[in-house]
Amino acid sequence: MKAVVIYDTKYGNTEQVAKDIARLLGADIYKVTGVKVSKLDNYNTFIFGSPTHKWNMSSGMKELFKKMSGGDFTGKKAAVFDTKFKGRFAGSAAKKIENDLKRLGFTVAMHYVSFYVTGMEGPLAEGEIEKSKTFVALK
Ligand SMILES: Cc1cc2nc3c(=O)[nH]c(=O)nc-3n(C[C@H](O)[C@H](O)[C@H](O)COP(=O)(O)O)c2cc1C
Repeated sequence: MKAVVIYDTKYGNTEQVAKDIARLLGADIYKVTGVKVSKLDNYNTFIFGSPTHKWNMSSGMKELFKKMSGGDFTGKKAAVFDTKFKGRFAGSAAKKIENDLKRLGFTVAMHYVSFYVTGMEGPLAEGEIEKSKTFVALK
């Protein structure tokens, strides 16, 4: 398995989760603005993480998926997480990302995980970071 974690963040909470997952998987890690699409072919397992902005993924993540839209990612495995408020009306970046991934040909290997923040700038709610361990299933 050659895995990469690709994330966006505004206040650092999504980055904190991304780093934890990368550590657990021994994966490479890139902030979305530093991703070179031509290099993505080197990986077979992808973890995408985004803060939820206006019930959707961040604009940086949207940009990346636009850049990736010409590619064929069939046979590659992906999993997704987001950070968001808890609650029925909060929306989910991860849900939107999963839809894009399926369109690009990825196999979504596990249900997305939402990590709850207690305020706009965080922090993550108590114990949330423990959910990172879910991603070890990708190994
Ligand atoms: C412009 C903006 C829009 C947001 N919209 C939502 C939203 O629709 N639903 C939600 O649960 N959280 C929303 N949030 C809160 C973010 O989820 C929160 O800032 C994020 O999880 C923090 O992650 P980060 O530290 O990685 O930026 C919004 C935050 C910003 C800045």
